[in-house]
Amino acid sequence: MVSRLDVLFTIYIKFLLLSCLQWLMAHPKFLKNQLYLAGDSYSGKIVPMIAQEISEGLDAGIEPILNLKGYMLGNPVTDENKDINSRIQFSYLKALITHEIYESAKINCKGDYMNVDPSNGLCKADLQNVTTCTQNLYLANILEPDCSIYASPKPKLLNWHRSIFMEQDFSHFLLSPTRPPTPWCRGTIKDWARCNRTLSYTKDISSSLNYHRNLIKRGYRVLIYSGDLDMAIPYVGTETWIKSLNLTTDSGWQPWSVEGQVAGLVN
Ligand SMILES: *[C@@H]1O[C@H](CO)[C@@H](O)[C@H](O)[C@H]1NC(C)=O
Ligand SMILES: *[C@@H]1O[C@H](CO)[C@@H](O)[C@H](O)[C@H]1NC(C)=O
Ligand SMILES: *[C@@H]1O[C@H](CO)[C@@H](O)[C@H](O)[C@H]1NC(C)=O
Repeated sequence: MVSRLDVLFTIYIKFLLLSCLQWLMAHPKFLKNQLYLAGDSYSGKIVPMIAQEISEGLDAGIEPILNLKGYMLGNPVTDENKDINSRIQFSYLKALITHEIYESAKINCKGDYMNVDPSNGLCKADLQNVTTCTQNLYLANILEPDCSIYASPKPKLLNWHRSIFMEQDFSHFLLSPTRPPTPWCRGTIKDWARCNRTLSYTKDISSSLNYHRNLIKRGYRVLIYSGDLDMAIPYVGTETWIKSLNLTTDSGWQPWSVEGQVAGLVN
């Protein structure tokens, strides 16, 4: 059975692909160029799906023939269990929670903070401690001030609940024109409306790992990068799913420099 999200997703993927194809048909001189897809955040699901769609089109000889070489993703939503679960380890690594809270949660929740047995009081108490320590942070960058408290009448709270992915309130990106801008919350908008979130659908594409596995096997080049202050899709969760692909490495973890300064670390 195809769920409503499947339908939405499939249509969306085909629409995005069609838009690219239309543009390329209108500008055929670019058709021979190497094609890399790129995206961030929720695109961690969309980009691999589009890449696979193109790849299958190539196998079937569908014109125009695109010169797809690979794709890149930043802090990509990939596997919701691994991504969200890793927030606890991330909180510990960033000294947001104590070693005791981390160890206690790990033992009492058996490492699974997403599917908590409602009768597991010890685990729930540990997660409550985590919530207390992290709930007022700005999820997308733990060092940035949380602009949402100025923009949203209902500040989001970081809770350990499965629904957090879809229920996350992004209205903090939409600064209300009635509130004066603060030095750190810049921008002006007019008449932004909240999304209508009453649409009900089943979310059954919970992981894009199989798409990655497939595309890597087919020889496409993949660059995954992660900003390590993002607690929404923490780098530790990203490392976990990359490791689960059992890839071989050419070199160890090492600094990547730009103009003599360390700009990141690569593997
Ligand atoms: C969790 O918080 C409660 C209440 O503040 C406290 O009694 C308990 O020791 C905390 N647990 C850990 C592991 O720090
Ligand atoms: C939101 O969507 C639901 C279901 O499609 C609809 O019944 C409702 O009227 C919509 N609300 C707004 C404010 O558009
Ligand atoms: C990776 O290796 C582990 C341990 O050998 C194995 O259990 C797992 O199935 C492998 N995963 C993949 C995607 O090959």
